[in-house]
Amino acid sequence: NKVVLAYSGGLDTSVIVPWLRENYGCEVVCFTADVGQGVMEMDGLERKAKASGASQLVVKDLKEEFVRDYIFPCLRAGAVYERKYLLGTSMARPVIAKAMVDVAREVGADAVSHGCTGKGNDQVRFELTFFALNPELKVVAPWREWEITGREDAIEYAKKHNVPVPVSKKSIYSRDRNLWHLSHEGDILEDPANEPKKDMYMMTVDPEDAPNEPEYVEIGINSGMPVSLNGKELSPASLLSELNEIGGKHGIGRVDMVENRLVGMKSRGIYETPGGTILWTAARELESLTLDRETMQVKDMLALKYAELVYAGRWFDPLRQSMDAFMQKITHTTTGSVTLKLYKGSVSLASRKSPYSLYREDISSFENGLIYNQADAAGFIRLYGLPTRVRAMLERGI
Ligand code: ARG
Ligand code: SIN
Repeated sequence: NKVVLAYSGGLDTSVIVPWLRENYGCEVVCFTADVGQGVMEMDGLERKAKASGASQLVVKDLKEEFVRDYIFPCLRAGAVYERKYLLGTSMARPVIAKAMVDVAREVGADAVSHGCTGKGNDQVRFELTFFALNPELKVVAPWREWEITGREDAIEYAKKHNVPVPVSKKSIYSRDRNLWHLSHEGDILEDPANEPKKDMYMMTVDPEDAPNEPEYVEIGINSGMPVSLNGKELSPASLLSELNEIGGKHGIGRVDMVENRLVGMKSRGIYETPGGTILWTAARELESLTLDRETMQVKDMLALKYAELVYAGRWFDPLRQSMDAFMQKITHTTTGSVTLKLYKGSVSLASRKSPYSLYREDISSFENGLIYNQADAAGFIRLYGLPTRVRAMLERGI
């Protein structure tokens, strides 16, 4: 039997390889997804995986798929978890887990394994995706089974099994990076009273150190999906990575929050989502032109549930998929361009336009026009306010 392991090359996943061989007697195929976590992490990975005892390393570039099929649909839906979190890690897990199911089929494996702890959200996201796409796969989660409790244990285990200990210095933070975001958890951040250290951030400069001149960016959107940056059409992944550079330079998209994890506990995390924050603002601003009041309200209500499903690892639920069909339909006319001004951590609106705009200057203008007659408002208000008058009459015994 064979197992496909979600592999990063770090200490934890390097130790999982010999552990799986020892405890399950199986061949280990390592799998690494490129979701934009950075080139450094890919260097010498195959050599490392084999040195740990893996039979092979499979690498897949999932960047375009990740942005096009996971990130942009969430953006279109307006999904935000607990008022602040743009779901960077949550969206990456299903795309990685889906690829693992594919790899398991390709190499003839009957099991999959991951290095998530038993205290987090990620284990749920991986495993619900495995269940949804191949319920027959066995799932092994070493962190929920083994005796290794800390870094020292892991190093000792590695040495005992002749596995080279990764030389890369281990950060004090637990980080997760992809094209959309970078998250930081752990160490001093575990006390919500502690302000993050200035040198912790990696995708964004401190807004105080950002350029003194503002910069304008124009985002082109087609049916709710970003398609161009400053007039240049780009693939989803290249658009996002270019925008991350620009946003990062201006200190855009830092979030510090205490969130409710799926497993019940609260946890404190810092997120950097520079490009994503800009895109999110652009999409909402365009919707202010293209969605009417009730549509926007219903969309926003559903967005809350949509975000919850994504956070909870239920990407492949029919519920999320059906909500996506709704989002696609409702944003059919959310097409146009939005220009935003970036300045020392802030994103403000400069301009928006859409060929499907519901805003009409000839109606909204203070000048009297042909379509809107101010005299009509008197009758409208009398009937619209009828219940208000009836209640007030009752209270006064009229
Ligand atoms: N708390 C965030 C989430 O649940 C980020 C998790 C980061 N994951 C990690 N393995 N460091 O989506
Ligand atoms: C983990 O515990 O594996 C990372 C944190 C999380 O999943 O929420």
